[in-house]
Amino acid sequence: MTEKLHLATQLIHEEQRFDTVGGKTIKTINPAMYTGSTVLFDNCEDLRLANAGEYPGIVYGTDRLPPQRSFEKKMEELEGSALTRAFPSGISAIINTLLTFTSSGDHVLICDNVYGPTAAFCSKILSKYDVAIDFLPPDIGSNIVQYLQPNTRLIYLESPGSNTFELQDIPAITKQATKRDIITVVDNTWATPLFLNPFALGVDIIIQSVTKYISGHSDVLLGTVSVNQRYAEEFDNFYQVMETFAPPQDCYLALRGLKTLPVRLAYHQQAALEVAQWLEQQPSVERVLHPALPSHPQHHLWQRDFSGSSGLFAFLVHKKWEGPLLPQFVDNLDLFGIGYSWGGYKSLVTIGSSNRRKQGNYANRTVIRLNIGLEDPGDLINDLKKGFMVFQ
Ligand SMILES: Cc1ncc(COP(=O)(O)O)c(C=O)c1O
Repeated sequence: MTEKLHLATQLIHEEQRFDTVGGKTIKTINPAMYTGSTVLFDNCEDLRLANAGEYPGIVYGTDRLPPQRSFEKKMEELEGSALTRAFPSGISAIINTLLTFTSSGDHVLICDNVYGPTAAFCSKILSKYDVAIDFLPPDIGSNIVQYLQPNTRLIYLESPGSNTFELQDIPAITKQATKRDIITVVDNTWATPLFLNPFALGVDIIIQSVTKYISGHSDVLLGTVSVNQRYAEEFDNFYQVMETFAPPQDCYLALRGLKTLPVRLAYHQQAALEVAQWLEQQPSVERVLHPALPSHPQHHLWQRDFSGSSGLFAFLVHKKWEGPLLPQFVDNLDLFGIGYSWGGYKSLVTIGSSNRRKQGNYANRTVIRLNIGLEDPGDLINDLKKGFMVFQ
């Protein structure tokens, strides 16, 4: 094949390793599953090599069994990373990244709209090891320079950030960080590798909660860290020492999820926009927080950097409706499950406080977050109409 394949085709086309039976290869379309702790060696010489750290094969179940290796390889191709490693959850990927690249005496900057447990790990655990933490405004850009200190080692971004969906000006930040040799990390779970390429914007490390769109069916917990050439060896060494690994069954499901990701994301994008645009017209709605809507405060950044939008966004009802009627609105919905996480086929809703560590946007307001799944958007709108009846 000489022409370059389109992304959707690349994700499906895969070279497999096949066992043989009766001299014939077994050509199932999906890869073989391997599970296990012990991996047997052929002889004592192989064991000696393993003891010496020189065995070229897999020595143990934590040494990344084939389903994990296949998934990581596919992610490396998709994200353009020098190295991708899988973790048993998104938060585990985040924590291990922060542990690898920080030491006592370092200063770390974190966007104030990051996923709550990311912020909690920094404030409650990293700080114990004498790493100083400061939170950044969620819409930070070139004004990052005001926050930098001589010992700033790492800047952690999430764009759009959790629940309030502000975007950061990533290239403006990486421009300043690169000049000072500061590592930049971005949680790219919302956009997935399909709608944003953070490496092209100068980012060093990309986090994915594979739990969300990549696996896509709310039945997997998994995360990845993808690293550029500069930090690949340091990260790989850390990974090996920690003996972190990702369950083979979950890697298998994530690999399967990748094959349908373009189709699912296109649907999520369209359906979410339809619901978001409808919500903007509703009299009880004050504001819809969706980066692809022209009303979003950083819509210009979304237009400049992203090639699409996914199915997660939020909205605020007018303040007078934020009392006891709001839980009633949510309870009135039939098609939206009430629950955490997102990126799956079922639509979900959560409500929560918008408050940040710093005085941020929408202070003391309640944010209603919707994960638009793969249902028909007309049915979802009818369900929301039913919910809105409590405000009449
Ligand atoms: C933006 C973001 N990053 C990371 C995570 C953590 O992922 P996991 O649930 O796989 O630990 C979440 C979970 O909701 C998230 O929303």
